[in-house]
Amino acid sequence: SRVAILISGGGSNMVALAQSMTGEHPARPCLVLSNVPGAGGLAKAADMGIATATVDHKQFGKDREAFEGALIDAIDAHQPDFLALAGFMRILTPKFINHYAGRMLNIHPSLLPKYKGLHTHQRAIDAGDAEAGCSVHEVTAELDGGPILGQAKVPVNAGDTWEDLAARVLPMEHQLYPAVLRRFVQGDRSPVFLP
Ligand code: GRF
Repeated sequence: SRVAILISGGGSNMVALAQSMTGEHPARPCLVLSNVPGAGGLAKAADMGIATATVDHKQFGKDREAFEGALIDAIDAHQPDFLALAGFMRILTPKFINHYAGRMLNIHPSLLPKYKGLHTHQRAIDAGDAEAGCSVHEVTAELDGGPILGQAKVPVNAGDTWEDLAARVLPMEHQLYPAVLRRFVQGDRSPVFLP
């Protein structure tokens, strides 16, 4: 099957996903799309021989519907079976989500349902949590709210800055997301827990 990956920045999760889709893996990346022109992940995708596209949300002003229409056209031109949001920083409306219902995943850098939204690592530190981590979930209309398909936990250490915690979580994202995607493209929704 064919997987389109949506990014907004460096695309380290995109790289991990793309690198996992080799050999007997039943899926292959068919597109890496960014809403940010020149996003670092676009060059990484091109270096990996993956088709890329950019749909700049700034071209559409406040018209979210028009942006998402252009997004859908750009994505569907590559006929994906599944979508993986990987550091994609735009909130999607039900129009977009319904179009890809049941076929779209996202990775979020917290142990959902805790800390939906932004600044997740700082919030975990401020709350004095002993552990933090990341979650892969199916994307539904509720922001960061869909069924959880995997989680990875890391300790929060005394004196951690949010950057320290982010650096501890990110490698776990790169293990978790590929593990969940491999199952998801085969219709296996059994949750993955790491370590
Ligand atoms: C990561 O913290 C990820 O959890 C979030 O976006 C950040 C950057 O991801 N979704 P990437 O390096 O662009 O994949």
